[in-house]
Amino acid sequence: GRDLLSIADLSATEIKSLLGLAANLKSGSIELRCPRKVLGLLFQKASTRTRVSFSAAMYQLGGQVIDLNASVTQISRGEPTIDTARVLDRYLDVLAIRTFEQTELAKFAQYADIPVINALTDLEHPCQILADLLTIQENFDDLAGLTLTYLGDGNNVAHSLMLGCALVGMNVIVATPIGYQPDESVTQQAKAIAGDRSQVLVTQDAEAAVAKAQVLYTDVWASMGQEDSADARIPLFQAYQINSHLIKQADPNAIVLHCLPAHRGEEITEEVIEGSQSRIWDQAENRLHAQKALLAALLGGV
Ligand code: CP
Repeated sequence: GRDLLSIADLSATEIKSLLGLAANLKSGSIELRCPRKVLGLLFQKASTRTRVSFSAAMYQLGGQVIDLNASVTQISRGEPTIDTARVLDRYLDVLAIRTFEQTELAKFAQYADIPVINALTDLEHPCQILADLLTIQENFDDLAGLTLTYLGDGNNVAHSLMLGCALVGMNVIVATPIGYQPDESVTQQAKAIAGDRSQVLVTQDAEAAVAKAQVLYTDVWASMGQEDSADARIPLFQAYQINSHLIKQADPNAIVLHCLPAHRGEEITEEVIEGSQSRIWDQAENRLHAQKALLAALLGGV
């Protein structure tokens, strides 16, 4: 099947088409149905937005959802991935997986003959970025030429943002402390995608990074599984907090995004989350519309 393991599995044209479809589904100008199709959610980590938005999207398309997690499957007792994948694809039409390692996700995709969707790994979060681009498109006429500045930990969300922004012709600046930069291989891939159409820059200078930005974006400083190092990170990351001072350095029309969950007072202040430039709640809502478009496209919705 056609998989979505990385946002870069999609072409620029496909991303634009999915965003258009998502906008039309959101406005109600079109309706799509995937009757009798079954989505499996195989989640090995906690999730609020991804789990619920995928479920609601599938129900709204007229399909069904089976909510799986490792503890209720034989995965928890050591059944190999290659066997699990070859069994689940006999029951399901599409499978969204949240797991620790991209290599584990890739193995599922290799052995399952149905579309496999990355619902978050250590490397990427492509579904999040579809919702982010939809939110940016709602606020600005054209994505190409806009500048998004990501501040904080160069993590899975940062990786997918770099690739996704490069694909749609946006400039992307990632400002992180030393030692927390995005993977060099992802940076190089994003630069290759951007070519001479747009800029991909990794820097330590948060204030300079936001100077021309229309979109400011952040995520938690310590992801799931990194809680042990969370306290040590706070002083290192302080200069990368999105607060009212930093926002003033950006484009006056800049919007603020956060994929959530947020740690108020760490990567972002309460004032900014609840302020007039925040589009965080629209962004969370757009997970539903973007993934509905994705499911309909993968399942041949009519
Ligand atoms: N943004 C996001 O993926 O949220 P969840 O972890 O709640 O799914």
